[in-house]
Amino acid sequence: MSTNSKIKFGIIGVGHMGSYHLNVAASLPTHEIVGIFDARPEHAAEKAALFNTRAFASYQQLIDACDAVTIAVPTVLHYEIAKYALEKGVHVLVEKPITFDLQQAEELIALAKQKSLVLQVGHVERFNGAVMALAKIVSDPLLIQTRRLHPQNNRILDVGVVLDLLIHDIDIVINLVNKPLLRHSAMGSCLTGKHEDIAVIELQFEGGCIATLTASRLSQYKERSLSVTQKHNFLILNYGAQEIEIHRQGNSVTVTAPDEIKYSQESVVERVFIHKDNPLKSEHVHFYNCIMGTEKPLVSGEADLKTLSIALDSVKQIVG
Ligand SMILES: NC(=O)c1ccc[n+]([C@@H]2O[C@H](COP(=O)([O-])OP(=O)(O)OC[C@H]3O[C@@H](n4cnc5c(N)ncnc54)[C@H](O)[C@@H]3O)[C@@H](O)[C@H]2O)c1
Repeated sequence: MSTNSKIKFGIIGVGHMGSYHLNVAASLPTHEIVGIFDARPEHAAEKAALFNTRAFASYQQLIDACDAVTIAVPTVLHYEIAKYALEKGVHVLVEKPITFDLQQAEELIALAKQKSLVLQVGHVERFNGAVMALAKIVSDPLLIQTRRLHPQNNRILDVGVVLDLLIHDIDIVINLVNKPLLRHSAMGSCLTGKHEDIAVIELQFEGGCIATLTASRLSQYKERSLSVTQKHNFLILNYGAQEIEIHRQGNSVTVTAPDEIKYSQESVVERVFIHKDNPLKSEHVHFYNCIMGTEKPLVSGEADLKTLSIALDSVKQIVG
């Protein structure tokens, strides 16, 4: 395929996430939307009409007509569909987590390598403007804390909160620290079914950095944040707003008078300039550029295996 040529693109699974993919891919001049496939034919027909494209009768038929596809079906189906696509010589952007089984993930990565195809995992937070800026600011993290809290929804029931939400933070933190992991431990609770709804993972890296990652899909409040303590500053990243605040020269003073105690805290706060774009659009542009050979994949297969392996091991520690 020559640089800048249009790719024939398909979307498999047009539920919550697949609809975003369809919306973004349809807006890109580099993509020709060949069609979509979803297990709910009426829903697929509605979406196809909305985007002036075709609803295929099977994912196999759609893949056979495409150069590249997005797979946004429940995680338990990622392996089967991604394998079919790679075997047919089609590039794959598969939603996170790549699979729910390490061996299956290894098999897909090896297959993509053998066929010289791009297999990208939908770690969309990597394309968040604030996350892209973070790597340039963080040099000696001592403590990293992440919070990913979400109200309950009935969409993702095939996996727990670790593979659903917390995997984003594992991916970001291990790539930010970029040092060997010495140990990790997890705890959590299953409150609505057999999968965990709340999880806390602790990681310790060579060099001393410690990270605690917290996720819940049972909170009455939505938050996606990450903070980093470094020797000379403290950073807070807000994923939703794509913002970073840097606090320096922190100082706290307690003044004790006969009838009261006054406490004050001060720091110099810098707001980092962030180039904000739609992270999903940036993910698709990167996928296209990797197919064209003008960019190298941001998340290597090996890095993604490490993320998945920590996530799966944490699930095992929590659920057994
Ligand atoms: N990157 C992110 O931030 C993010 C966010 C949400 C979901 N996801 C991932 O996206 C995937 C889908 O999640 P969702 O929230 O969109 O779920 P969803 O339930 O809203 O959508 C799944 C869609 O897949 C369809 N489907 C089910 N079986 C199918 C099959 N055999 N063939 C074709 N279509 C089939 C369903 O009809 C539905 O439309 C999951 O892997 C999830 O982890 C990623």
